[in-house]
Amino acid sequence: MKQMKEKLLGRKETASGSKAVKDILERHSRNPARVIGMLQDIQARFSYLPEGELQFVSEELGVPLTRIYAIATFYKAFNLLPRGRHQIRLCGGTACHVRGAELVKGAITRELGVEEGGTTEDARFSFEVVRCIGCCGQAPAMMVNEDIHVKLKSVTVRKALEKYK
Ligand code: FES
Repeated sequence: MKQMKEKLLGRKETASGSKAVKDILERHSRNPARVIGMLQDIQARFSYLPEGELQFVSEELGVPLTRIYAIATFYKAFNLLPRGRHQIRLCGGTACHVRGAELVKGAITRELGVEEGGTTEDARFSFEVVRCIGCCGQAPAMMVNEDIHVKLKSVTVRKALEKYK
């Protein structure tokens, strides 16, 4: 995450300041104490935190950009990179692990050409490994958006994913 932050901070993008973000700042009364809420709203709008918008927030509020990135990288809920249209959350919990989640993970990577934590080039999927999703009796399991897929095998991954366009 530190490398990602440095990479993003190293880019020379200009502040965007879209209308949506200007509205978000107003909704939060431009109060620097409410930066987390602003970031939540920005992410809800864009599905991630665009660099230019963060720069704009920094300039408008007088909060150092490094402080905003410190918040954005501290909370796992924030995404600094664009997300795919569909979110794959493969369970990496104990029950799933012992029942072959690693094989499923490899199959997802092969099928989509994306590693854990990444997004496919066509922005169709983002892929992450998460903790137990509560289907241990039917492990290994994964969620795609809000759908739950259970008793996965590496050979069934393609079929499970094909309906998500
Ligand atoms: S360990 Fe995978 S669903 Fe619980």
